[in-house]
Amino acid sequence: MTTASAPGKIILCGEHAVVYGQPALAVPVAQVQATASVEPAPEGIWIDACDLGRRYRLDDASADDPLAAAIRLTLANLQLPVSHYALQITLTSSIPTASGLGSGAAVCTALVRALAAHVQSPLSNPEVSSIVFETEKLLHGTPSGIDNTVVAYGQPVYFVKGQPPVPLAVLHPFHLLIADTGIPSPTKATVGEVRAAWQKEPERYAQMFRAIGDIAREARVLLETGQPPGLRFVERLGVLMDRNHALLQQLGVSCPELDRLAESAHAAGAAGAKLSGGGRGGNMLALVAPETEAAVRAALERAGAKRVIGTYVGQ
Ligand code: MEV
Repeated sequence: MTTASAPGKIILCGEHAVVYGQPALAVPVAQVQATASVEPAPEGIWIDACDLGRRYRLDDASADDPLAAAIRLTLANLQLPVSHYALQITLTSSIPTASGLGSGAAVCTALVRALAAHVQSPLSNPEVSSIVFETEKLLHGTPSGIDNTVVAYGQPVYFVKGQPPVPLAVLHPFHLLIADTGIPSPTKATVGEVRAAWQKEPERYAQMFRAIGDIAREARVLLETGQPPGLRFVERLGVLMDRNHALLQQLGVSCPELDRLAESAHAAGAAGAKLSGGGRGGNMLALVAPETEAAVRAALERAGAKRVIGTYVGQ
């Protein structure tokens, strides 16, 4: 049996605007993982998507099934005929779906890696990322490519759509709490709504996208060069996260539950807070210091967070 895993992800800043060509920063989250295993089967290729409670044959999968597409694209990439293989492919994940943590990209990344390893032709990170990008199109419609990139590369990245990712060297590690509203919110829906709103008011939305892009550029400099004069590093990063959240509210992708979590994190001493991913539910991030971590975690739980995960960026 061959297995492979892939992490979840968060968007530190720049979601939505990244779909329109602005930069964004994304970070893998190793505390949640998707795992794929591949083993010989008596006949055909079988997909066991345990968390979805579905077991089906590749031949019976619909044309827009991302798992089936990941299998077909991986074998095609390696110039191997699908009909040649009899395999059982089992997928499990601790990443909640439709929560902004990149569950779709992680499951497909694990699958592509496990399958390529099973046929003894491991693929490079760019190859895995580009296969998973195709599956993301089936899931999300018009993805920027940031999720497949950060998950397949497994490191913090500065990302601009259509360009190779730039690895992000984080000078000062920092601590985030990732709090789940428990509200599922498919990225496809919020990306579609932002697109419709942008089509109605292109200038206003373009201006907000540019303002979000400026935050991502500023955050990159801050992360890579450390402490500029004035505010301390953590305070400065917190200010950028808050500005990003305010712009995401203006884009219309926040919701009362996300705002409540962000406000309670602030009240308990977080340096900054923002939603992460598509929004309208899913997860938010709170930037904490060792002395505020426990209070912020407790406040998030009191404010209704269904799960709080701590992660260090840059360690
Ligand atoms: C999703 O993680 C990030 C979005 O910007 C969508 C995308 O970039 O494809 C909302």
